[in-house]
Amino acid sequence: MRKKIVAGNWKMNKGFSEAEDLITEIADALEEVELTRVDVVICPPALYLEMATDIAEESNFSVGAQNVYPADSGAFTGEVSPTMLADLDVEYCIVGHSERRKYFGESHEFLAQKVDALLAHDIIPIFCCGEVLPEREAGIHFEVVKRQLEESLFHLPEDDFRAVVIAYEPVWAIGTGVTATKEQAQEMHSYIRTLVLKRYGSEAANEITILYGGSCNAKNAKELFSMPDVDGGLIGGASLKSDEFMAIVLSA
Ligand code: 13P
Repeated sequence: MRKKIVAGNWKMNKGFSEAEDLITEIADALEEVELTRVDVVICPPALYLEMATDIAEESNFSVGAQNVYPADSGAFTGEVSPTMLADLDVEYCIVGHSERRKYFGESHEFLAQKVDALLAHDIIPIFCCGEVLPEREAGIHFEVVKRQLEESLFHLPEDDFRAVVIAYEPVWAIGTGVTATKEQAQEMHSYIRTLVLKRYGSEAANEITILYGGSCNAKNAKELFSMPDVDGGLIGGASLKSDEFMAIVLSA
């Protein structure tokens, strides 16, 4: 059975001690529950990764980065390399988030380089895809997502591809309070699985974990996660409170 994941993308939020408190609260809460089918991933800002991996060592969650630069070292002021992430035992890294595509102009090709760089260090990319509202309104959302996958992931050989986690995040649902309906999520997730089936075959299609992201919260998570092709969530705002995040984890 494929892996279910609930991942918290904290984005650029929390001071250091708030972050430490929140991670400790989540770690404590995870000790109280028995999770057999879901992996929990926390993606704090880069400055807090070491603190997070220190706590994770004694706990039942994994740590993910929010970004990486696709080179092992060099003159790239301000950037963080996959080698540095691997040194800290970071296990996941978000790639292709719509905020990075939009504000930092990250191209399909650059994202493909990030995916390759992460996989070379055994870090699991959480690859985000999704359309903006005008694309959905124009009825081209399937083509948009297809292109994102084809240009940044489908160059991978099957073994590498199978290490990747995909997150469908319709951009119009991110931070807006407008969640995709469970039918909209299922329709796109099933479409993504069909694309994987065509490119890599049925085993890869059955095994690939596809998360939903975009205004997912404690109230709607159970319904979204009940859909057959939705394997958990990538959670923004609702991952910043331990109670709410844990409620989502327990919905998976
Ligand atoms: P929200 O859950 O705040 O809508 O953000 C989703 C997201 O962008 C996760 O990566």
